[in-house]
Amino acid sequence: MEPSPPAADAVRPQALIAAALAAREVAYAPYSRFQVGAALECEGEIIEGCNVENASYGLCVCAERHAAIKAVGAGRRAWTALAVATDTSPPSPPCGLCLQTLAEFVDDLPIWLVNPQGEAVQTSLRALFPVRFDKGSLDDR
Ligand code: THU
Repeated sequence: MEPSPPAADAVRPQALIAAALAAREVAYAPYSRFQVGAALECEGEIIEGCNVENASYGLCVCAERHAAIKAVGAGRRAWTALAVATDTSPPSPPCGLCLQTLAEFVDDLPIWLVNPQGEAVQTSLRALFPVRFDKGSLDDR
């Protein structure tokens, strides 16, 4: 079967990856020194996030949730791809809290895991988070 052509407003993976790498540069991570950048593609627009830590550690916000919450606040819930930048090799995946947050709004999502060394691994929300608690779980009582 032929692959379907990208949507007219699709962002190039290179642009999404570059946005995640740039977002990582502005991460506020003085405690862990683990900087993360995220870039969410929303109908042709890119919304970035970075991790923002706090001296009260439990307040630390991950890059992916920062981007997701910005997107929802901007009225953008139709997400079509995510790139996450870390400085690990191989590049790190989103944590479980972030996967659950993403799964609230999309059933599946291509996810690029990248690092500044140029490694890029493509995966997906379904692959990383195949079974989730969702509103269906609340209904099935
Ligand atoms: N972090 C993220 O930004 N995204 C993740 O998916 C995992 C972890 C951040 C949180 C904290 O600031 C630092 O990385 C170390 O855990």
